Amino acid sequence: MAPIPDDVTARAAQLTALLERYNHEYYVLDAPTVPDAEYDRLFRELQALEAAWPALRTPASPTQRVGGTPVPVFESVRHAVPMLSLNNAFSDLTQDDFAVRHAEIIQFDERVRRGLGRSDSPVRYAVEPKFDGLAISLVYEHGVLTQAATRGDGLTGENVTENVRTVRTVPLRLATSQPPALLEVRGEVLMLRRDFEALNAAQAARGDKVFANPRNAAAGSLRQLDSRITAQRRLSFFAYAIARVEGATWPDTHQYEMQWLEQLGLPLVVPALRPVVEGVEGLAEYYERVHAQRSTLPYDIDGVVYKVDSLADQARLGFVSRAPRWAIAHKFPAEEALTVVDAIEEQVGRTGALTPVARLRPVAVGGVTVTNATLHNEDEVHRKDVRVGDTVIVRRAGDVIPEVVGVVLERRPMQPVAGGDLFSPSEVPLHPPYRIPATCPVCGSHVVREEGEAVARCSGGLVCSAQRKQAILHFAGRRAMDIEGLGERYVDALVDLGFVHSVADLYHLTLADFVAMKARSDETASPLAEAEVPGAASSSRTAPTRWAENLLAGIAASKTPPLARFLFALGIRHVGESTAKTLADWLGSLERVRQAPAPILAALPDIGLVVAEAIAEFFAEPNNAAAIDALLAAGVRPQGEGLPAAALAEQLEPARLLTRMGIPRLTELRAGQLLAQAGSLEALVTLAPEQLPVAWPEPLRLAWREWLAQPERRALLAATAHQRSALLAALPAMPDVSANLPLAGRTLVLTGTLPTLTREAAQALIEAAGGKVSGSVSRKTDYVVAGEAAGSKLAKAESLGVPVLDEAGLQALLAGTMAGGEAAS
Ligand code: IVH
Repeated sequence: MAPIPDDVTARAAQLTALLERYNHEYYVLDAPTVPDAEYDRLFRELQALEAAWPALRTPASPTQRVGGTPVPVFESVRHAVPMLSLNNAFSDLTQDDFAVRHAEIIQFDERVRRGLGRSDSPVRYAVEPKFDGLAISLVYEHGVLTQAATRGDGLTGENVTENVRTVRTVPLRLATSQPPALLEVRGEVLMLRRDFEALNAAQAARGDKVFANPRNAAAGSLRQLDSRITAQRRLSFFAYAIARVEGATWPDTHQYEMQWLEQLGLPLVVPALRPVVEGVEGLAEYYERVHAQRSTLPYDIDGVVYKVDSLADQARLGFVSRAPRWAIAHKFPAEEALTVVDAIEEQVGRTGALTPVARLRPVAVGGVTVTNATLHNEDEVHRKDVRVGDTVIVRRAGDVIPEVVGVVLERRPMQPVAGGDLFSPSEVPLHPPYRIPATCPVCGSHVVREEGEAVARCSGGLVCSAQRKQAILHFAGRRAMDIEGLGERYVDALVDLGFVHSVADLYHLTLADFVAMKARSDETASPLAEAEVPGAASSSRTAPTRWAENLLAGIAASKTPPLARFLFALGIRHVGESTAKTLADWLGSLERVRQAPAPILAALPDIGLVVAEAIAEFFAEPNNAAAIDALLAAGVRPQGEGLPAAALAEQLEPARLLTRMGIPRLTELRAGQLLAQAGSLEALVTLAPEQLPVAWPEPLRLAWREWLAQPERRALLAATAHQRSALLAALPAMPDVSANLPLAGRTLVLTGTLPTLTREAAQALIEAAGGKVSGSVSRKTDYVVAGEAAGSKLAKAESLGVPVLDEAGLQALLAGTMAGGEAAS
């Protein structure tokens, strides 16, 4: 083979050095000095040189970080210096007394000082995070990474050099022109949280297994037999010890060791996290600081490590069994613990949302005593099946609200059942599964859970004290009742000091109340401080009560809001300004809005079933009804009330209303067929099963019968029919355009099979001509249209003397060529 020209060798070396430097700046220092494109250009140049002269391609080349040929097994490696472990110490952060809280750390420091024969002067400790990853040993020979090994049993590990080469932060070559003949570095391989999240997202997207935590992901990635896979996983490395040095001076403190490693290009944790501290106070301070920072760090740690800084002192202290006497791992409190659920109660939030909360036997978790844990919502409780009496795993990570992770089912309290045999259990749980209550634990109003919603809510928006402040603030808001000056601070004070319980109370406030409120809030130093009350710092010229007079005037001025604003002010869930306006415009009065059942509301433009139900629920809640009555009694008068909109008749077509009852499978067409059979909304309740439209398939019949089986649905149907009539009766008289249609006011009954028209087509034609199709023949029937195989209806028509037509007769009628009376049979 041709020898490599000197200038090529030199250029390759230069490129290698540059690429290693840029790599270090990018991955370790997080401070790149050249654009990515420049790095890529140099990288490709080196690749090209290596392609032309393969002998240049050494394992330490920056081009070799992509992984190589898979290995069948990892070779074992005997560690020249054993990889030891650390003893652990814990603190009880629930204890206030320093000596009790940090007893184990005090003992450690005492042992160290005794060992060093130093009773008074404090010991200097190098302190570091305890990384939650995998220990690894790196061997550099003459500056080049030649071996990387796992800890294994401490004496023998696995050779993972190929894999570690792919870790971007591990230098393949030390950043020095005079490297030691030998350097063995120890540290931790781990996966940053963000890399872990990305990896799991990618794994999940591919349908591959996801890792439980970054530590497992790091372990799984490092121990890949195929280093090309490791190369795709973003692993990181942090150095924390030197095990061997040959051909260079070994620094004499841990701190200097770390500084030296840093100079050589090895990645270390940020300097702020590896200070040197003195004595127990220094250790404890560091511990508490890092514990507080724990959840914000980019990687997982499970504690901190304290190391006597002086290597001479380390040597004097030596080792006991397999752990050094000069170091200790100070572990953070576990973030999970077991305890018992004493009760499950609900918290009501400002918006009325009910959150189940587990009341727990007090237990220390993550350094605090936990007595409550959120259960999020009813579905969550069911999913985890948490019950009273259960032993549960409670988790509190960082500052997050403690939560119940799961139940230890073996410990569930059970009770024996009489007559248990092989086929039925001999014991059952002592407590039933959890259910969200039907009424609000705060105000007793009924609780609503909308379809498809996880959250259950109190419907007593106007009265519930949990929602009171929110409700009053909304009520007073500029786009609602527009009470000038009544902002958050006043509302807080008025509610906290008991002056206002419900919105109507606002209208009974007096000047004396405001003055008393101000005085009490000064006493209790509640949110209403002097400076926040405009005009309260009484100057001689403004009256000291001017602010209160202004507020009272604002309240009085709000008594006559437009109806839409009043409806918006009530704070009905889902009812924004535009829905409030729709309600006001179409129904015309507060009373009619209060009375309207959900199907009628849902028949209005832009109001869906969910919103309609929320409105109806709101007015159905007696507490809310009382609050509204109280407002009216206090003299609040919505303005602009009048008749319903003339076009309402069209919106309230019976078929349209029917489709807004939430009946499964009921389309508008089918609703029409149903009504044709029954004759009216009212009659639907008593419609016999055999009278259902013949065209209906069985599942549809079943769905209808099941729906109707519930009494409250029959009541809804009746109420809807009744309110519909009432609304129509209130409509402004309107010239009836339909009166000119050929079948206006006529009722027809269809029977038998017509030669060309289907029953639906015939019905549609009749209705389009202004007629009605009924299911049964009576004296009021104008015509019976009979086809092939007509049965009892034809007979009845004949007996009552109702005119009977064939299809041709119907067509003539529709075309208006036959006047009513001429249609004799
Ligand atoms: S020093 C002779 N420093 O903890 C002691 N270890 O229990 C050598 N670890 O296997 C270890 N962070 O995986 C040291 N800053 C740190 C550490 C650390 C994590 C792990 C390491 C070791 C285990 C010892």
